[in-house]
Amino acid sequence: MSNKGLFPTSLSKKYAMAATGLFLCLFLVGHLLGNLQLFIPGAEGKEAFNAYALFMTTFPLVKVLSYLTYFGILLHAVDGILLARANRAARPVRYAKENGAANAGWSSRNMALLGTIVLAFIAVHMQNFWYVMHFGEPGMYSLASGEEVKDLHQVVMDFFGPANSMAIAAVAFYLLAQAAIGFHLWHGFASAFQSFGLRSAKYTPWIERVGQAFSVLVPLAFAVIPVYLYISQH
Ligand code: HEM
Repeated sequence: MSNKGLFPTSLSKKYAMAATGLFLCLFLVGHLLGNLQLFIPGAEGKEAFNAYALFMTTFPLVKVLSYLTYFGILLHAVDGILLARANRAARPVRYAKENGAANAGWSSRNMALLGTIVLAFIAVHMQNFWYVMHFGEPGMYSLASGEEVKDLHQVVMDFFGPANSMAIAAVAFYLLAQAAIGFHLWHGFASAFQSFGLRSAKYTPWIERVGQAFSVLVPLAFAVIPVYLYISQH
């Protein structure tokens, strides 16, 4: 097993993977709750979402959480690559007769591929919204407090609306990405607890059930957002 890299042992790589993975799950819940405001119709929704975006980009504690999230994504990705390489190096000769399905589920055997798709999604997604919010020049919006802010609500609406001639492709891409996130979490959620050594006849079935519910419900709720924004504007 490889002793090089970010973490010296396979065990420390697994701990880091599990810790960053669970932290990113918390991020997903927070991000989803914030994005649910996109369902609020009319002027009220615009005000709520833009006030929320201002809070997310200026409140000091949230800024710290944002930096932890970027760091968490990078660490999780790099550590994942190192783990995948270490696992491959530990088994240089492929089994003559591979019967992966008998030992592990599809998600478990494809974590590196799924993780790569999720990482590609995050890169494109941050370019779509985060980059525009931080470095772009979208239209401005006056909050009820009188403060002038970038109109992130309009940026998101336009991205999935008639203003974007590729909106249907954007929706399809977001849906595909949510499927990849769901499959990645299907194995990853319970696996994180196992990496921390939390395995028992009593708790493991519950952890697995919670993980499965999480990996279906969270990506599904995210997936409804672009579909709703597309349909409600076309
Ligand atoms: C599908 C519905 C989604 C919508 C409408 C959405 C919307 C947004 C918006 C508007 C921003 C910019 C916020 C800002 O810079 O203040 C953002 C940032 C971000 N999104 Fe999403 N998002 C979605 C799903 C996701 C998913 C599934 C992930 C992760 C897998 C994700 C990861 C991120 C990250 C990492 C940021 C940067 C956060 C930060 O700066 O703190 N998003 N998203």
